[in-house]
Amino acid sequence: MKSSLEETLLSSIRTIPDYPKPGILFRDITTLLGNARAFRRAIDELVHPYAGSKIDKIAGIEARGFILGGAIAHQLSAGFVPIRKKGKLPHETVRVAYSLEYGLDEMEMHRDAVKPGEKVILVDDLIATGGTAEGAVRLLTQMGADIVAACFIVDLPDLGGRAKLEALGVDVRTLIA
Ligand code: PRP
Ligand code: ADE
Repeated sequence: MKSSLEETLLSSIRTIPDYPKPGILFRDITTLLGNARAFRRAIDELVHPYAGSKIDKIAGIEARGFILGGAIAHQLSAGFVPIRKKGKLPHETVRVAYSLEYGLDEMEMHRDAVKPGEKVILVDDLIATGGTAEGAVRLLTQMGADIVAACFIVDLPDLGGRAKLEALGVDVRTLIA
């Protein structure tokens, strides 16, 4: 049976067929973000296990991971690190190529955004193939981050992303599948 949190979150996400490409069922979280109760409950649930722990940084993946990551960083009194699509960050960066459910791209973070040994939580709205999150884990690992967990609202389990991250030794938390 689904919990009331799962019911709230599932009912606040809409599905758009054939976006951005034919055959993709796009899970649109803008409706969840626009629903004050659903947004608050999602953030509270993502933050809960880390309340009182020392987390140095939240790393959010552009673009939807910025919205959640900013709210989580505020709640945990942590700093925020943007992981951006290539060419958007002004200072010296590290870059990685990655693939996702509907394409290929490159992402970057600033070289000085995380210090070796800092405790970091990676945040995004959704994990599908896990290609995007894997790229982010590689960047953070290269910079010496201690990745405490990778957190998402939505898991698309048939696409194998969670297993891909867990195989890298990352603790994965998701709220709904
Ligand atoms: C979406 C989503 C994740 C990624 C997941 O981002 O927000 O970052 O896809 O897919 P994967 O697990 O198959 O890698 P998208 O690249 O569409 O960018 P956006 O947030 O800028 O819309
Ligand atoms: N990112 C990758 N696959 C996605 C999907 N099906 N819906 C929303 N975002 C995604």
